[in-house]
Amino acid sequence: MVKWIAATALSVMLLSLQVLADEMASENEIALALANMLRAGRTVISSEQAVINDPGTDKAITGVSVRNEAIRVYREKTGTDPNDIIAHNPYGKLLQLQIESITEVIDDNQSTINKPGIGFKGFVPAVFARLVNERFRDKIGKEAEVKVTAPVSLVRNRKALPDDWEMEIINSKLSSADWPKNKIFSQLAEKNGRKAYRVLVPEYYSENCLSCHGEPRGEIDITGYPKEGGHAGQLGGVISISLYR
Ligand code: HEC
Repeated sequence: MVKWIAATALSVMLLSLQVLADEMASENEIALALANMLRAGRTVISSEQAVINDPGTDKAITGVSVRNEAIRVYREKTGTDPNDIIAHNPYGKLLQLQIESITEVIDDNQSTINKPGIGFKGFVPAVFARLVNERFRDKIGKEAEVKVTAPVSLVRNRKALPDDWEMEIINSKLSSADWPKNKIFSQLAEKNGRKAYRVLVPEYYSENCLSCHGEPRGEIDITGYPKEGGHAGQLGGVISISLYR
């Protein structure tokens, strides 16, 4: 009898551990998918940048074309299809709503993208990403959040400032010399007084970021912000994903 109770208690415990492990695997998968889809969208804007910056009109950069191209880039970079994740992951709806946010942000910005006679319009990947994250927040409410932040000395838009938890992990882990490149950080933590599974995905400056974020420090870039004096390989930003529990 005692043996039987002990065995039952053990199997209940193992079962709940398994449930927790499965939950965390799903959360990790969806958090990374959200980061990778945001990156894929930025890649598309980056490769269309010259067209966007052209003073002409009728550019055929539509919500649907950017969405389809972002999905293609995502598949190419990750080897997985976002639609599979949407179908099998219990949080798949988040990815679906993020993809819808990408489509809507491009459709809503047609008059900017096609503004006649204006070259540079400030519609750069970081602005696009912020608009997508804001639209996503409007759609999903208090279930999840995607934000692009950065080490505090590099932050341009104050909306991107890291919160206390992000600042602590960025300072103690992601920007420390022995943190392995591209390694993500995840933890069950708190956000706004609620329990949340939180994931930080580091991003590094590459050469093509430096026309705006590089040297000489303080010089005004094409977008009107002072350059940060950054260099290639440096931790330049962090995609922060929170999944509330
Ligand atoms: C054409 C200039 C330009 C280039 C090139 C550029 N950025 Fe930015 N970046 C900006 C602007 C402008 C913002 C502020 C966006 C906003 O309004 O939220 C920004 C914001 C950011 C942010 C969000 C945090 C913040 O400071 O508000 C990160 C992270 C970032 N950039 C990283 C990068 C990386 C990495 C690259 C290269 C892959 C890059 N940027 C290339 C102009 C640029």
